[in-house]
Amino acid sequence: MKAATALALAALTWTACASPEKNMTDDVTTEAGGAHATHGGHADHAEHGAHEHRFVDPSKYAERWNDPARDEWQKPAELVGLMGIEPGMTVADLGAGTGYMLPHLSAAVGPEGEVLALDVEDAMIAYIEENLAAYGPNVRAVKVPSDSPGVEPGSLDRLVTINTWHHVAGREAYAAKVLEALKPGGRFVVVEFTLDSPIGAPKEMRVDSASVAADLKAGGFDASVAEETMPNHHVVIGVKR
Ligand SMILES: C[S@@+](CC[C@H](N)C(=O)[O-])C[C@H]1O[C@@H](n2cnc3c(N)ncnc32)[C@H](O)[C@@H]1O
Repeated sequence: MKAATALALAALTWTACASPEKNMTDDVTTEAGGAHATHGGHADHAEHGAHEHRFVDPSKYAERWNDPARDEWQKPAELVGLMGIEPGMTVADLGAGTGYMLPHLSAAVGPEGEVLALDVEDAMIAYIEENLAAYGPNVRAVKVPSDSPGVEPGSLDRLVTINTWHHVAGREAYAAKVLEALKPGGRFVVVEFTLDSPIGAPKEMRVDSASVAADLKAGGFDASVAEETMPNHHVVIGVKR
């Protein structure tokens, strides 16, 4: 799968970063006058308890987010294992961004399965649609509202969200909507930067594993912190009873 993934990703028009970890600051806070200055992300955070943020220039993010060197610490194959994906499943990537995880999910569900790339930003959806051939034939991009995964109830086997949960406002209520979107036995896998990770979102915006587990339990999941080997992340898995 790794070789196929590398080939697929190579079709994208990114430039490899010399230092991918340094450049994985997802929220461009290292850029002078960056996004926070233009959309008031910190104010939104204060109001909603979430780090709401606009991502409007996918090609800029794709250089960092789709850098193949990211696999060393994001460990997508391990994530696929934690998701417990089986061929033929329908899985969704909430906050798919520039599609880093999509080739891995596409290969895991196989030709009988389907991958929904969900994102709130028109620009991200357009980027994914333009690059569909690089992700896999079973990938579909879906624009969703900020307060819902926007899919049919009981339609998903798995939903993963990577470096995105801290952007979601009203996380407990949102988790309940994910529960509704999943089939019985379905899994909701939340991947977030740890509080002490040297890379990632601004530290004051991060959510720790206990907080994520509490969100998922409030939404009706059986939730637990997963054992994994990613150096910069924690993973919380919610199971729908
Ligand atoms: C930091 S990026 C992560 C992208 C990708 N998951 C990755 O790890 O490379 C966060 C993404 O989530 C999207 N997003 C933020 N809030 C969202 C929401 N409420 N619903 C769906 N997507 C959202 C943003 O547009 C952006 O593409």
